[in-house]
Amino acid sequence: MDKIVIAGGLPLQGEVLVSGAKNSALPILASTILGGGECVISNVPRVVDVVTMGKLLDILGADVQHEGNRAVIKADVIRSTQAPYDLVKTMRASVLVLGPLLARWGEAVVSLPGGCAIGSRPVNLHLAGLAKLGAEVSIEHGYIRAKAKRLRGAPIYCDVPTVTGTENLMMAASLAQGTTVIENAAKEPEIVDLADFLNKRGARIAGAGTDVVTIEGVRELRGGDHEVIPDRIEAGTYVVAAAITKGAVSVARCRPEHLEPLLNKLREAGVAISVEKERIHVDATAPARLKGVDVRTLPFPGFPTDMQAQMVALLSVVEGTSIITETVFESRFMHVEELRRMGADIRVEGNRVVVTGRERLAGAPVMASDLRASAGLILAGLAAEGTTEVLRVYHLDRGYERIEEKLRGLGAVIERRKG
Ligand code: EPZ
Repeated sequence: MDKIVIAGGLPLQGEVLVSGAKNSALPILASTILGGGECVISNVPRVVDVVTMGKLLDILGADVQHEGNRAVIKADVIRSTQAPYDLVKTMRASVLVLGPLLARWGEAVVSLPGGCAIGSRPVNLHLAGLAKLGAEVSIEHGYIRAKAKRLRGAPIYCDVPTVTGTENLMMAASLAQGTTVIENAAKEPEIVDLADFLNKRGARIAGAGTDVVTIEGVRELRGGDHEVIPDRIEAGTYVVAAAITKGAVSVARCRPEHLEPLLNKLREAGVAISVEKERIHVDATAPARLKGVDVRTLPFPGFPTDMQAQMVALLSVVEGTSIITETVFESRFMHVEELRRMGADIRVEGNRVVVTGRERLAGAPVMASDLRASAGLILAGLAAEGTTEVLRVYHLDRGYERIEEKLRGLGAVIERRKG
């Protein structure tokens, strides 16, 4: 297993280009099987989860061609409606083929995704919503089995604003007979991006990005072209990398408006941040130490849970105490033990952590556990005194395109060693 080795303590300088959003590319790729015709998706990040989704579409029978950051998919015919366990267990987002398979072929057998390092990750709201659309849904031997002659539009209320749940239901409803209204829908930018792509292909979706999404079902969807929005979490990770190393970095090809809660928190901590249309300038070179701030993760437009680990790393080396409360997932603190091994002073109290900033962390061998915890450890290593080795970097490769290359481009002393 590969590891990433970092010699910490250097302020990052320069410009970094953000890739396409993994969490937009995944539902968009899954949605291509909703119709025939060719779909050309550009600005697709070259990350492991996208490759896994491509393999799943291939198993279902779609013709998938990857050319650099472009994916060309044709799904005129599907030869299987089964998403196998050995693939789904490697990527929970595989559940996103459930809605499209059911809507277009009237049946789907998708392995239950199971839990992961950040929590139990149920899909009950996905299934309850599909049942509201008239599907017969059962769980047998670890598989979700769903059947429906033709889905019928219906009102659906989501107990919590689930991101992939909203995406699955939006895709299923796009081919249902009649109107569906999803209430308490998730409002993430990735949902708006998916709706934009579906509407280009003939769907009739209104309200994406608000908590009420209305979908008028249509008979079929044609092909379409789409450029995936920039990855706000990747962008946020590089913004925090600049802050934690007291550097000056320009994060380009991003959407600052998707990162307001993070940028405001960093300004509160004392980071000088200015934005242009597709660029964020971070200047943390002022000699004064950054200050602790309190953070509470919330569904969009609140502070993103996917930036929590990166923020805990930063707040481990600022002046003063910070309280970070994780309200979205039940156990998303896998990074804390590893940061402690680097000297961080962090106390876990239920669903919140109390961080008392230290002058410096000390480099150490640490273990990655999930995608964003790994990113937090990389950031801590960039700021720490001495060498940090992050093991099990396959977690990172799921969601960050060429991260060590992009960080080297900002002056970091970082390399990947084949394990
Ligand atoms: C999406 O996961 C993202 N993944 C996650 O990003 C992100 O952390 C999460 O949204 C929250 O923003 C993708 O988009 C592929 P949820 P998702 O359904 O859709 C509960 C990353 O690092 N819930 O919005 O699985 C659930 O337990 C990943 O890129 C139910 O109870 O998250 C959680 O507490 C990690 N029942 C809350 O809702 C359900 O049926 C939010 O989960 C569904 C969800």
